[in-house]
This record gives sequence, C-alpha cells and structure tokens, in this order.
Amino acid sequence: MNNYPEKIYLNGEIVAHADAKISVFDRGFIFGDGIYEVMVQLGGRFFYEEAHLNRLQDGLQKINIDYNVGEIRPAIEQLLSAVELTSKDCLLYIQITRGVAPRQHSFPKDIKPTVMMYAVPKILPDINTIHAGVISREDFRWSRCDIKMTSLLGNVMLNEEAMQNNCFETILYRNGVVTEASHCNVFFVKNDVVVTHPANEFILDGITRQVVLELCKNLNIKVEQNPVTAIRIPQMDEAFLTGTSTQIASIQKIDDYEFYSGNHVGPVTRRLQEAFLKLKNYTVV
Ligand SMILES: Cc1ncc(COP(=O)(O)O)c(C=O)c1O
Repeated sequence: MNNYPEKIYLNGEIVAHADAKISVFDRGFIFGDGIYEVMVQLGGRFFYEEAHLNRLQDGLQKINIDYNVGEIRPAIEQLLSAVELTSKDCLLYIQITRGVAPRQHSFPKDIKPTVMMYAVPKILPDINTIHAGVISREDFRWSRCDIKMTSLLGNVMLNEEAMQNNCFETILYRNGVVTEASHCNVFFVKNDVVVTHPANEFILDGITRQVVLELCKNLNIKVEQNPVTAIRIPQMDEAFLTGTSTQIASIQKIDDYEFYSGNHVGPVTRRLQEAFLKLKNYTVV
C-alpha cells in the first residue's frame, strides 16, 4: 500500500504494517486513551529528542499510564534499523495507549500499554517558505490541551475548516483570546516584542515553541507570555506559527486581515527563522 511505512514497531516487534494487529478493545481505539509524540531526525540525531521524550513521559504521567519512556530508546534504534533510516532524516511517530481491557471507563490496575511507532523519510525545508493564510475559530476543545493525547477530534475538525477554506491552519480563540492553532503554536510580534499564550492547560507547550523562546533569549528579543485578544490581531506587526514539521511559518493573513501582501516576512520572524536554521544545522546561533 502506498504512503504507509512498510514496517512498523508494535509492542517489541517489527511487523509489516499490513500484518500489525491491535485489539478492537484497545482503549486507544475505543476512547482515544493514549499519548503520542512526533519528532524529526536531522543530520543523524533527533532534534530536541530529550525534550520530546520528557514531554511524552510527562503526558503519560498526567493520565496515569504506567510506562517508562527510558525503555523506548533501544526500540527506536530497532525500528530505524529495520526501516533503514538509522542516521537518516526522518519523522518518528510514537503512540502509547493505555492498553486492552473490557470497555468501561475505569481501567484495571494491571493493564499493559500498547506501544506503536513508525518512521518515514522526511526532509524539512532548510528555511521555511510557507506564507500561511489562516482562519480563526472558537477553540471548542476541552480544557486540558496541555496533554498531547491521541484523541484529536477537536483539532481534526478545526483543521478541516482551514482545508475547506484553502488555508494552512486554523488559529483558535477561547474567551476572546488567541490560544494556539490546530497543530501549531501561535506567536505575534508587536513593537519588536514577541507575544505568545502562556504554557498552561489551554495550549500544548510545543517543543518548537520552547526552542523559539530560547532563541529569543539568545537574540535579545523581548518576550511576553500573555494572551493576545483576537480583536487586537489587526494591531499586531507580525504573526507566525511553530511546530515540529511546520518549524517557523510566517502568517501572511488571518481571516480578512492581511499582515503583508505577497511573500514578505516580518523582520523578527525572519531573524528567528534564520537562527532556527542555524540550530538545525548545529552551527552556533
Ligand atoms: C495543538 C498543538 N499545538 C502545538 C503543537 C506544536 O508542538 P511541537 O512544536 O512540539 O511540534 C502541536 C504539534 O503537534 C499541536 O498538536
């Protein structure tokens, strides 16, 4: 089958994806009861691997799945070797669900998590060339968006609206303030100050978000972790999205409000993109 990785990792084994079997009573399937992580390997190492694996462990702890992420490193090596991606640029997806049990909300104490991973070749562009048009919508998701859970229906529905409108993303507002986007974090720039929603339960604290905050520090760019009210969007000078695959994408337009005409990228966004590129290439920022 095209577009699927031929082999995947499932509970300690490498199997052809077409032969991989998970019980229909897996709580990941029934309830979306699981945590996932996505990271990219660039130039032979995973970009911010420790931060990604720490977030995975943290998510598992938040929902009481008993799994030690320390065990996963050899499994990643096993998978990469089986799919001939050792040291190659690729994207790794990790999913740990609570496991299999008769369907009821409460779960047994001795349940064993289901661990699934796949890796696919992935070449990220050197510098981001996206000039994103985005729409804005009410953030109707639950109030624990800090948990990177597999049940992403809200995000899927909100992202679909962007697709229907030929846009790159949907940025979200809750109680009138911009939180994040369906699969990215959102930043604004006003008077050379970078402004983004604080990392609380209304957003996923993206690893790329954390990298950008670190870059701001290194570049002496002032940061305010404060929510921006949606009605103030037209007063902002620049806006951009961050995410593992998206990297740093300049926002050209939100709904009918155009930050720039054409492919212009604001100066602060551009500085951050350039610094990010150096980080990716492991040169000093
Ligand atoms: C809702 C949401 N916000 C933000 C992000 C960005 O996170 P990261 O930079 O770790 O990829 C993601 C990534 O999947 C996401 O799903």
